[in-house]
Amino acid sequence: MLLPGFRDFYPDDCATRNYIITQWRTVARRYGFVEYDGPVVESIDLYRKKSGGELVGQLFDFVDKGARAVALRPEMTPTLARMVAARERDFRKPLKWFSVGRFFRYEKQQRGRLREFYQLNCDIIGENSPAADAECIALLVDLLRQFGFNDDDFVVRISNRNAWSSFLDDEGASAERLSDFLEVIDKMERADPETTREKLKTLGVSLEAVTRFLQTPAAEHKSFAEVRANLEARELGKYVEFDLKIVRGLAYYTGFVFEVFDRRKKLRALAGGGRYDKLLALMSDDRVELPALGFAMGDVVLSELMHETPAAQSRLQNALAANRPAQIYLIIAKEERRLNALRDVQRLRDAGYTVDFSLVAAKVGKQFQTAEQIGARFAVLYGDEWPQVKIKTLATREEVLLPAEQLLDHLAARASR
Ligand code: HAM
Repeated sequence: MLLPGFRDFYPDDCATRNYIITQWRTVARRYGFVEYDGPVVESIDLYRKKSGGELVGQLFDFVDKGARAVALRPEMTPTLARMVAARERDFRKPLKWFSVGRFFRYEKQQRGRLREFYQLNCDIIGENSPAADAECIALLVDLLRQFGFNDDDFVVRISNRNAWSSFLDDEGASAERLSDFLEVIDKMERADPETTREKLKTLGVSLEAVTRFLQTPAAEHKSFAEVRANLEARELGKYVEFDLKIVRGLAYYTGFVFEVFDRRKKLRALAGGGRYDKLLALMSDDRVELPALGFAMGDVVLSELMHETPAAQSRLQNALAANRPAQIYLIIAKEERRLNALRDVQRLRDAGYTVDFSLVAAKVGKQFQTAEQIGARFAVLYGDEWPQVKIKTLATREEVLLPAEQLLDHLAARASR
């Protein structure tokens, strides 16, 4: 039985997943990011000490046969920080790295949240400037545009945790309670106002003060102004909004944070990220100090939004249609020609074509039907005409009769490999 929160990928699901991953890789590379990867199992301490927040309660953890407490990776950032801290000197800064892989979180299964999912992670390490923040946001926007979404479909909500530490300061509340306070703000949108009021009270802050602060115009936040100007120069300004309610649930974020949502607010977050300028120092006992930021985008909410957005849906369908299982289908009309056909199957495959044929004797009509169903462009008929073969272009019904020896030359000008 399939476990809750896990998925089987039948061929159609696999094709959709591969389409998503191909787009992720294409756009990340367009921005000069290079791919890396890490292990799927890590020591549990990596997440207990570095991720913090909700994630620690969602670990898929176990004790291995060597009595080590380990966990399936719930996110990439601690692994990335560990890898970079270990060999920092080997790389030119800033590092622009991306990774695609499977992740595991023992969450309650709900719409948009599973226990096994894919994430694209993109991170820039070794650059302090807001120019890096803007580059990350631009990449995030372009990733979503690549799927056919536009500013009617999604928005990147940007914020800065530092704004809230100044707020706590001004309110005379203890700075040590910042992470408890941010947790309340993180949940505020979905929580009942009275519960929020009570929680804030224990932290020495009133709901009214928080509500007032949330209304601060974006222009008053200098850090946002720089990122905004950078994105406007790229004509991407319309995709972002400043929103102090975004604070993110992970412990390592130090300032700038952001999350992507569908405009209709029907779905969970499509992606999220931010700056984690202290994580490398924490990981290396202060040996390596490098500013860092990045984000991750998951495949689950992305697929949901794709299915609800006609432009994205038609891009997906076009990509899937182009992804035919075989371009050439050999029709063996006379069983005594099977060995001749097999020789050509091999020659065509050696030349790089995708080729298929019936493994056992079948009616000619049935073989043609299969060729049509798999979307083959050409059917090549081995029958009475031998040593000539008939090549049929299935879409136009055009037929050409030529010696089998000329098959490869004939296709070279017409078929793609
Ligand atoms: P996160 O917000 O925990 O951030 O996850 C990023 C995205 O992964 C989410 O917006 C969502 O699309 C997807 N995701 C997370 N959990 C699940 C789940 N249970 N099922 C399906 N999709 C899920 C991080 O993971 C940070 N490490 C991102 C980051 C990279 N920050 C800096 N660099």
